[in-house]
Amino acid sequence: MIPYSQLDKAALEAELKTVTEAYEALKAKGLKLDMSRGKPGKTQLDLSNDMLKVLPDREDCLDGTLDVCNYGNLCGIPSARKLFAELLDVRPEQVIVGGSASLQLMYNLIATAFSHGLLHSPEPWSKRGKVRFLCPSPGYDRHFRVTEFFGFELIPVAMTAEGPDMDAVLQWIKDPSVLGIWCVPKYSNPDGIIYSDRVIRALASMKPAAPDFALMWDNAYCIHEFDGDYVPFPDILKLCAEYGNADMVYEFASTSKVTFPGAGISCMCASEANIAYFQKTLGVQIISFDKVNQLRHVRFLKDKETTLALMKRHAAILKPRFDAVCDALEREIVPRGIGTFNRPKGGYFISLYAMPHTAKRALQLVKEAGVTMTPAGATYPYGQDPFDSNIRIAPTLPPVEELNAALEVLCMCLRLAALEQLLKNA
Ligand SMILES: Cc1ncc(COP(=O)(O)O)c(C=O)c1O
Repeated sequence: MIPYSQLDKAALEAELKTVTEAYEALKAKGLKLDMSRGKPGKTQLDLSNDMLKVLPDREDCLDGTLDVCNYGNLCGIPSARKLFAELLDVRPEQVIVGGSASLQLMYNLIATAFSHGLLHSPEPWSKRGKVRFLCPSPGYDRHFRVTEFFGFELIPVAMTAEGPDMDAVLQWIKDPSVLGIWCVPKYSNPDGIIYSDRVIRALASMKPAAPDFALMWDNAYCIHEFDGDYVPFPDILKLCAEYGNADMVYEFASTSKVTFPGAGISCMCASEANIAYFQKTLGVQIISFDKVNQLRHVRFLKDKETTLALMKRHAAILKPRFDAVCDALEREIVPRGIGTFNRPKGGYFISLYAMPHTAKRALQLVKEAGVTMTPAGATYPYGQDPFDSNIRIAPTLPPVEELNAALEVLCMCLRLAALEQLLKNA
């Protein structure tokens, strides 16, 4: 297959004609497919159906002697704190178990910082004048949206193959108005990158100018390998403490992609001093989270070993889907020189870098052909990808036949957009 960049104008025009005809034929099928968000598919949800049966009677609702049906235990029931501690390799006293969404705990932390400040804040962030927040990009759009919502200035930092560009991060944190950074350290959303030990240590040992800088460590995909065995991961709380930064880091995780998203349990892990601080601020908002659901999860997931066994069953469902996407891109896009990507081994996304200045156009064509995908630019602060290149592919939700049909459309649209772009300059 000849890369498109090596075709002369006549050859590009001939290819454009062929690809346009193929695209129109796909469009005529009147498809209605969704590859937009990282939601588990139905077969994955069904893996946790037995969780609905573990607490059939009122007498089952005891965690030791604790009646989970009553108010109290704001930090979570002891067994759920222990379960997350085991999964994340931290201590149970460092864990607050929340409701169904870790995103809400992250939002809450930022909102608290804004209205009242964090443990070491000289004043609330709202009183600081300008607040800047580092956003390794491409990254998770909902992270960016939280900090945008509070009016912070979002600072894009390039992602490298081993995590955020630390030269840029270390430069930025000298500025006292830079108050935090978003990190997804394992199978990052969307690139699927695992931060290297070097980057993790560089982050843990940062000495930011701001005394209340927040290292937002969203370990959403901590046990989410779909290709190969579970990869152990450093305990960021311990590392930060070793570097004298015990109170700088906040780690988040949830069972959204383990059991039921929207009906799972979440956690925030932090130093014991921070846990004590947040226990006070959370206590103003809620008397206790849903402890019945916490107990349901503990009874079902039991411990790390049982949870990892469940993740293997998710992996068996996910691997063929990720292979389908990667194989299609390797077959249709890479040899034509119009896109690159990394084959991830875990997480929920594939991050495609289309030929610069073609992502928006390709996704417009995709939409017109009836396929919904994450909008171009969504993976960058303010929805602005400076290269108009990154496309986040979420292959988990549609049934495999639909996924293959959507991939055919996507590949055709990427080719069409690349040909149009090349012909502009031919
Ligand atoms: C990096 C990351 N963090 C958090 C979430 C959402 O987690 P939760 O359902 O616990 O709010 C997602 C969902 O896609 C995610 O990709």
